[in-house]
Amino acid sequence: MGGQADVSGLTNLDAVSKADVVVVTVPFSGLAETLRTIKPSFRQGQIVVNVTVPLETSVGGKATRTLSLWTGSAGEFAATLLPRGVKVVSAFNNVSAEVLGDSSKRVDCDILVCGDDEDAKRIVFGMVQALPGARAIDAGRLDNSRTIEQITALLVSLNIRYGTKSAGIRITGIATG
Ligand SMILES: NC(=O)c1ccc[n+]([C@@H]2O[C@H](COP(=O)([O-])OP(=O)(O)OC[C@H]3O[C@@H](n4cnc5c(N)ncnc54)[C@H](OP(=O)(O)O)[C@@H]3O)[C@@H](O)[C@H]2O)c1
Repeated sequence: MGGQADVSGLTNLDAVSKADVVVVTVPFSGLAETLRTIKPSFRQGQIVVNVTVPLETSVGGKATRTLSLWTGSAGEFAATLLPRGVKVVSAFNNVSAEVLGDSSKRVDCDILVCGDDEDAKRIVFGMVQALPGARAIDAGRLDNSRTIEQITALLVSLNIRYGTKSAGIRITGIATG
């Protein structure tokens, strides 16, 4: 993590073929094409973590709006485009890039994780727990990504209203180990 990270560059196709977990975080408008181009590299049992949400923020003078581009979820959409046997988990949809980008600070939010494969979700919980301050919440099956992804629209509007870039969510009343 942070300064100790071991980072190397690969093409998307090579990165997918070498990875156990593939994190997809592109604008919704590029999601289908991105998955189509990397699809040949996937193998059975791989995990895809979908961060993409079907939103677009239009900024014009004082009128800043978050537009919903699709009524379904990007997580479910991704699952329809990937080979059978690839496990889609939605996570990190509600955490700001600003927050994740500064490894000197704690990630003061909960990360909702949903998906239809419990083992895949457990692996993603581990990714969340590697972020100091973040807490993974099991948000159930992948169809809950519809609700989770819409929370991002609210967070974007709160960021604008309160002049910040780091709004996130905390779930109270749940004790997690
Ligand atoms: N930013 C946040 O705080 C945040 C929080 C929660 C969820 N999300 C969601 O996460 C997704 C990515 O957000 P972001 O802010 O990281 O977006 P972004 O900075 O605009 O794009 C992320 C990366 O996607 C690649 N990309 C851009 N357009 C593409 C296209 N048409 N096809 C394929 N790749 C493309 C770009 O790679 P190259 O630079 O290599 O071109 C870029 O570095 C969005 O769906 C967003 O709603 C974002």
